[in-house]
Amino acid sequence: MTDEKKYMDFAKSLVGLRHQDVLEVGGCISPEVITDYEPRSWTSIDVNPKRFEGKTTFNGNFTFTAENMSVTDIKHPDNSFDRIFSVNCFEHVDDLKKGMDEMFRVLRPGGKLFTIFGPIWSSPVGHHTWIEYEGHIYHFMNGVFPDWDHLIKTRSELKSDLEERYDEELAENICRYVYDSSDINRLADGDYEKNLKDSNFRVNLRVRKKRGKKPSKKRREAIIYNYPSCNDPTVTEYLLVVSKGKISIRDTFTMYFGLVSQLMNKILQKVFPRSV
Ligand SMILES: C[S@@+](CC[C@H](N)C(=O)[O-])C[C@H]1O[C@@H](n2cnc3c(N)ncnc32)[C@H](O)[C@@H]1O
Repeated sequence: MTDEKKYMDFAKSLVGLRHQDVLEVGGCISPEVITDYEPRSWTSIDVNPKRFEGKTTFNGNFTFTAENMSVTDIKHPDNSFDRIFSVNCFEHVDDLKKGMDEMFRVLRPGGKLFTIFGPIWSSPVGHHTWIEYEGHIYHFMNGVFPDWDHLIKTRSELKSDLEERYDEELAENICRYVYDSSDINRLADGDYEKNLKDSNFRVNLRVRKKRGKKPSKKRREAIIYNYPSCNDPTVTEYLLVVSKGKISIRDTFTMYFGLVSQLMNKILQKVFPRSV
């Protein structure tokens, strides 16, 4: 199953997509995939039009639009959408508070936002380094430097450490990427929690996924001392369902039933990888 289908299945079982006007924030699911979920309309917005390449022409059973637009300034009237779908995007939005306000504004009363994202900056590989230097890719998944060092060390300490492993120019490039690039917003997990609390949304479901890695007690204390808004540096992903106003008991039941069936499916796929 593709990632697109995996996320769409999740959203379908938790918030329902059939006959809904859906706004996708940050990314562009292929219309050929969307069609199976029978929305009334699907509007993808992203600040990088490359996401839309090859996906903008679709003559199917729903209206499909892809727009070069920021979530912080959505050019649609109030109350335009029934659902918002956003995967792996919030951590890249520079002004997430503004983005939350805009998403709330364009949702219809009773509308729901389904999102999965990672509080990247406070996670083990939160520096998110991804650069090419002399034909080699230095990627955060391949241990460019020890987990959480971008939070524990000062910039100049990190640079001296890097100079012990790499040449001076590469060490400087890595530091620039870590601290200056606009790739991620550098919010810690607690900042996302605060944004959510301060927004007008009602939280229907909040799942925090943690992936094993834990800093030592001393390193954890250093992280939290330097970044008081980091509550838990082991959190690597959130799944949220929030709504504009109250949702019914029936919708709440459907959402939890959907969550359980998704989890059961995941377990079955692990146990019987081929047959499910
Ligand atoms: C890591 S990609 C995820 C794309 C896709 N959802 C996926 O899971 O493959 C993050 C996307 O968010 C987009 N993005 C960043 N800031 C944005 C903003 N302010 N408004 C809309 N999209 C934004 C980026 O251009 C990028 O396409």
